[in-house]
Amino acid sequence: MELREVIGNRRSIRYLDPDRPVELEKIQCMLEAARIASHFGNNNAAQALVVHRDTATDEQWSCLPSPVGGFQMKMANVVILWYIHLDAMDEAGKRLRELVHCGALGYGPDRFEELEKTLVPLFDETAEFLKLPGMVDMDMGQAVAQATLMAFEQGLGTCCQGSGDWSKVEKAFNIPENCRIVVAQTVGYPLEDPATGGQRPRLPFEKLFQLNAIDNPFPRSPEVVEELARDRMLQEPATADNAEREAEIEALRQKYNLPGAGMI
Ligand SMILES: Cc1cc2nc3c(=O)[nH]c(=O)nc-3n(C[C@H](O)[C@H](O)[C@H](O)COP(=O)(O)O)c2cc1C
Repeated sequence: MELREVIGNRRSIRYLDPDRPVELEKIQCMLEAARIASHFGNNNAAQALVVHRDTATDEQWSCLPSPVGGFQMKMANVVILWYIHLDAMDEAGKRLRELVHCGALGYGPDRFEELEKTLVPLFDETAEFLKLPGMVDMDMGQAVAQATLMAFEQGLGTCCQGSGDWSKVEKAFNIPENCRIVVAQTVGYPLEDPATGGQRPRLPFEKLFQLNAIDNPFPRSPEVVEELARDRMLQEPATADNAEREAEIEALRQKYNLPGAGMI
């Protein structure tokens, strides 16, 4: 499957096979993909603790939140707790030096001394600012996006789980104070059709993107849309009255004795 089709087919999969274990090698592939994502200043602050159903305690598993589709933790075989390690920012100068020394920035070998006097102190000084929500959450988004595509490529389904309060989870897993969980990601083999009824709704393109001025929508070429549709990146939207999709989900609800969405 070409990248465009992969992007088009990547959807949140909420119904996962609770009886089919996920190989840890596949989780490793997801983590390898996250590790090599772009990170601001190459800090690698986006880190993860993998929770494996077979080996985690019941107490640990039961504190994992699933606020929207409450059944999801019952179905997942693995949950990845993605957290930001704020200490990583304290090494900003060191990481920058590495980037320059490996030739990524094009500084040139005769300018290392200049680097030590200019960019390195600047990065060191901004460490506290970089710990604030913002850039570092962007790092996390990039890492999770790459891990998600890797999961899909290996036949796995995933869904991110948000929470307004991670303190119980952080306590249950002894996450250090200088770390902040951003999201939990359920992982397993999909029980639902990966197409899951079509493209989930999104705001109109013209409303989201502009060119040069905030009131000037980015011109959306119909030819490009057609090309992306041909390549199966842009797919038919999911509809409200899709009987086939409803039947699929209802069968899963009955088989696994699941409540509807929102029931935690
Ligand atoms: C940061 C983040 C948190 C999310 N939290 C939840 C959640 O708590 N429960 C849930 O069912 N889906 C959650 N989702 C999934 C979105 O609801 C999902 O992206 C949306 O339904 C669009 O569907 P798609 O991903 O299939 O395109 C989350 C997604 C992201 C990126």
